[in-house]
Amino acid sequence: MYNITLIPGDGIGPEVTKAMKQVVKASGVDINWEEVIAGEAVIEEYSTPLPDYVLDSVRKNKVAIKGPVTTPVGKGFRSVNVALRKELNLYANVRPVKTFKGVKSRYDNIDLTIVRENTEGLYAGIEHKVGDYAGETIKIITRPASERIVEFACRYTRENGYKRLTGVHKANIMKISDGLFLDVFNQVAKDNGILRKADGASCDLYSDDVIVDAAAMNLVIRPEEFDVMVMPNLYGDILSDLASGLVGGLGMIPSANIGDDCAVFEAVHGSAPEIAGKNIANPTAIIQSAVMMLRHIGEMESADKIEKSLKEVFAEGKLVTADLGGNASTSEFADELCRKISAL
Ligand code: NAI
Repeated sequence: MYNITLIPGDGIGPEVTKAMKQVVKASGVDINWEEVIAGEAVIEEYSTPLPDYVLDSVRKNKVAIKGPVTTPVGKGFRSVNVALRKELNLYANVRPVKTFKGVKSRYDNIDLTIVRENTEGLYAGIEHKVGDYAGETIKIITRPASERIVEFACRYTRENGYKRLTGVHKANIMKISDGLFLDVFNQVAKDNGILRKADGASCDLYSDDVIVDAAAMNLVIRPEEFDVMVMPNLYGDILSDLASGLVGGLGMIPSANIGDDCAVFEAVHGSAPEIAGKNIANPTAIIQSAVMMLRHIGEMESADKIEKSLKEVFAEGKLVTADLGGNASTSEFADELCRKISAL
């Protein structure tokens, strides 16, 4: 029996996390979900959307899975997501983007992972007004945080059998901050034996770098050429939404926020308030996040079962949600997935 923190979130969060719990149970893993509420619902009582009991629960259990949490635009409290990542030092945000056969998309055979630095960059939370005249947000890129994320990406590239590790940056314009990130990328990749082709790397394992705007274009034109892409915070936020569009949209993409002590798994998508409460959201992203979580805790067999069943459901294409062009509800999709899992 595992103790795992569950933050249902708001908007579509409670619906998709309910489906996820059902699927994990069907896969045969016994989990005691410690459910804690964060977000707008608790602000009045605790004067913060991220009360200490949430952090305490994750620190105690070491593993959490969370639904999306709404962040009001331009006012009020800091994003729960950003605060959680900073407070728990969850420095690596890992977002695998893979094609499922049967899911309608203009692209086939996408298999790439975005590794996003999760604690600094433009999300360091250092902002101020200059009277009524201006707003300033300070971008912080440090050597230790850059080294740590590139080290992580090097390990991830090797462990998952990928061939290409790409550093994404804007060092041509932000010469000091992104320039530092690029220097660190080159050095750490080299130290880890992931060389550039010009330095004698083989085609089986090599590194290169791309400016973020060119990366955006190349992701649209030839996404199948990318494997692992490592980048500062904001670029990772934007490019992972772009990449989700290559494989069916935001309803599909999972993520893991990894630190030295704790890990928090979540869908890449937000709370989608316009479809909340209608039982039509696609729960695949949070279910795939649970697959990552199960692998993290060593439950490989259950993770494989869920993944195999997802492949079958999509290949059949009969029961898919509206975002993928079908008309199955969230719960019908989850029920079908559970049937497949039980039949394995
Ligand atoms: P969003 O991801 O909620 O929605 C973008 C579009 O994708 C919408 O059309 C939505 O209906 C669709 N969509 C998203 N997830 C879906 C799913 N599972 N099934 C079917 N369709 C889905 O992004 P948006 O609208 O920018 O943000 C809404 C709220 O969520 C904001 O308050 C934002 O701050 C918050 N947010 C929270 C995140 C988190 O908790 N990790 C991440 C991103 C946004």
